[in-house]
Amino acid sequence: MKNLEIRFARDNDCAGLEKLDKKAHKEIKWWEHQNRREFEKIIRSNNFLTLVAEDNGLIAGYLQATLKFDSSALWIEDIYVDKKYRRKGVTSRLLDKFTDHWKGKKKSIVLITSDKNVKIFDKIGFTKRANYMVYKP
Ligand SMILES: CC(C)(COP(=O)(O)OP(=O)(O)OC[C@H]1O[C@@H](n2cnc3c(N)ncnc32)[C@H](O)[C@@H]1OP(=O)(O)O)[C@@H](O)C(=O)NCCC(=O)NCCS
Repeated sequence: MKNLEIRFARDNDCAGLEKLDKKAHKEIKWWEHQNRREFEKIIRSNNFLTLVAEDNGLIAGYLQATLKFDSSALWIEDIYVDKKYRRKGVTSRLLDKFTDHWKGKKKSIVLITSDKNVKIFDKIGFTKRANYMVYKP
């Protein structure tokens, strides 16, 4: 983990992101899989921000947020870390980079996650506020 780099995603990360996202979809039943083309669109758009954690050319994890420039809050929709990199501080480092980037520019950062992760994000400094429910028409 000595060489782990946290940085903004680039076009040539899309294949690695797609591969990792497939693992997320397999592990978590509600995870909506994004393919390479969707990642490309997102990375090029001003409405999203994607950070990656790269370890010797491999994408170990990523964070994706929606940026609504007219809103005082930022929404982190996805954070996923490859199983073999978990509990090594990858998420903490992704969130450090994200929060540093937005320091003083936004009032709050909202993270969408499941109940089982509340303790993890509590440790990183988030506070549980509300429930998020989904209805599929
Ligand atoms: C949730 C998830 C993103 C955490 O990533 P991670 O890189 O392993 O987290 P970190 O190593 O940075 O750990 C952050 C803190 O939580 C703790 N933690 C991490 N996983 C934990 C677990 N399974 N049980 C208890 N504590 C845990 C760590 O010890 C650390 O606390 P510390 O700073 O006091 O040591 C990762 O488990 C994951 O990808 N899960 C599947 C996807 C998911 O549910 N994403 C959620 C957001 S959409």
